[in-house]
Amino acid sequence: MSPESRVKISPSILAADFACIGEEVTAICEAGCDYVHVDVMDGHFVPNLTIGPGVVKAIKPHASKPLDVHLMISPVDAFIDLFAEAGADIITFHPEAGPHPHRTVQAIKAAGCKAGISLNPATPIAALEELIEDIDLILVMSVNPGFGGQKFIKTQLEKIRRIRDLITAAGREIELEVDGGVNSKNAEEIITAGADVLVAGTAVFQNGRQAYADNIRALRPSG
Ligand code: DX5
Ligand code: ZN
Repeated sequence: MSPESRVKISPSILAADFACIGEEVTAICEAGCDYVHVDVMDGHFVPNLTIGPGVVKAIKPHASKPLDVHLMISPVDAFIDLFAEAGADIITFHPEAGPHPHRTVQAIKAAGCKAGISLNPATPIAALEELIEDIDLILVMSVNPGFGGQKFIKTQLEKIRRIRDLITAAGREIELEVDGGVNSKNAEEIITAGADVLVAGTAVFQNGRQAYADNIRALRPSG
């Protein structure tokens, strides 16, 4: 299988219509997404407030694809079991969010979820190197976290390449996900740099529900 054919699309429901969030989740799953990306913000770690475990629990029955929960909160550990019980399949956190990221990874796995680490644009790769044997996913933020609809920060392409090399050297199954400002114009260079999961909010939730399948397809290499 070529690297391109493995690419997964994880639409960020931050850009969905929150007045009918269950229907929106059903629509993207039927439109062919691979994961459902849930952006959790606390107004403290990032300057925005969004979704809690109650909403994750409410959307779970509407999702036929795994819930990819991105925690932009600090502290993290006290909320892991709540999000796992609510239906999260993957839980990703930022290493700056607490003093013991290794403990956080272990807690996520103990809760039965896959564990991801997210690096902000200015966070060095060194922040995850000691955890490479333990994690299932690396999420590269290609915008500063907090809001949808921002512009992709191009310097992150080199970081994606370097992390791809690190994953190859580790010889483990670790997904490399990229989040922020991803669209049909830049998807190809992000995939070429080494990404295997693309998060996209604005680019998927546009032009009405009938367009979601095309919007998702347009992010894939053949699209
Ligand atoms: C930003 C979030 C992203 C964001 C993506 O803090 O983590 O998931 O909503 O939105 P777009 O695709 O609009 O940049
Ligand atoms: Zn996100």
